[in-house]
Amino acid sequence: MPQILELIREDHDLIRALFDELESNPETRDVRCITLRRELPGHMYAEEATLYAHLRERVPEEIRRSLDEHTEVRETLARFETIPQRDDAWMPALVDLRERVEAHFASEEGEVFARAEEHLGRSDLFALGETFGREKVAAARYIAV
Ligand SMILES: [Fe+2]
Ligand SMILES: [Fe+2]
Repeated sequence: MPQILELIREDHDLIRALFDELESNPETRDVRCITLRRELPGHMYAEEATLYAHLRERVPEEIRRSLDEHTEVRETLARFETIPQRDDAWMPALVDLRERVEAHFASEEGEVFARAEEHLGRSDLFALGETFGREKVAAARYIAV
């Protein structure tokens, strides 16, 4: 199992690719929306249960800011989900969601990853990688219901 920061980056790349597809290919939008609704909340839930939980005491400011960004992403996703694809507001809402998500990914891959490498050892990062995978499976079960 790779270490947690690699798994998080893989998820980010997958979600970025989903946004590319949603913007450019109308024919696959139904299925990509379903995937986004599963992957994005599952990813954030697993981060909170693993990396954030381990860093919260050591770098409270960064983690508080990241949690606020998760809340903003969840709220923006909830608003996006209410807009039908044929509505003129759909694409601007998608772009808005993407901007929020990409800004969060950038601060995570920058500042949060740097703090994680500073405060967590190699064995911690690998152990958290295993937990991250399990938490995502648990979250997918919960979100699917
Ligand atoms: Fe995050
Ligand atoms: Fe993330």
